[in-house]
Amino acid sequence: MVVAVDGPAGAGKSSIAKIVASKLDLEYIDSGAIYRSLTKKILDSGLKIDDYTAIETILTTTELNIVNKKVFVNGLDYSLFIREKDVTDAVPVVSANPPVRSFVNGFLNKFFGDKPVIMDGRDIGTEVFPNADYKFYLDASVEERARRRCDELGTKCQSFEEIKSSISKRDYNDMNRQIGPLKKADDAIYIDTTQLSIDEVVNKIIECIK
Ligand code: C5P
Repeated sequence: MVVAVDGPAGAGKSSIAKIVASKLDLEYIDSGAIYRSLTKKILDSGLKIDDYTAIETILTTTELNIVNKKVFVNGLDYSLFIREKDVTDAVPVVSANPPVRSFVNGFLNKFFGDKPVIMDGRDIGTEVFPNADYKFYLDASVEERARRRCDELGTKCQSFEEIKSSISKRDYNDMNRQIGPLKKADDAIYIDTTQLSIDEVVNKIIECIK
């Protein structure tokens, strides 16, 4: 069984998909962590994030792996660094690069093609697993999503307005790229989570699946 969960930043996809995975005994994968890990590797290599040709070249010697739910790039685990601001700002540029997208999609299909999985991202129901058994598109107002991010950051949240504008910018980039843009698959179930708790969304998803 494949369950695809797509939606914009901060819609609650990963928190919700993780709980559904444990309740339904599915593997969970956060595809954003893969784009983030590749972005961190590219930043560390000193390449310009918009140097698509150089990035395409390094992909030929790049190997992805997932061990204990952690993403490894050429054997290195970048998970401690992938939520840093420089990675978050750069990831929409790296993820708009067509060879990067086909590299990640090829890996996801090969790695999870025959496993029961719930995967969250931007293009899971449209591009990665267009034949997924269940597709959900989680959304929420930008204010609510920024509020959730601020809550997560706690005392590190310095400016609500800055977070809101960074989320809006990322949404715009993710929705307007040429390849694999963020959009609801025609057959996805749309859930507006603005007024819902995590448990309410989890229950809705599990009800649909059952
Ligand atoms: O889900 P998360 O916010 O961690 O994703 C980070 C970024 O990775 C997104 O803003 C998007 O640019 C990219 N991404 C993507 N396709 C996916 C998952 C993430 O382009 N399936």
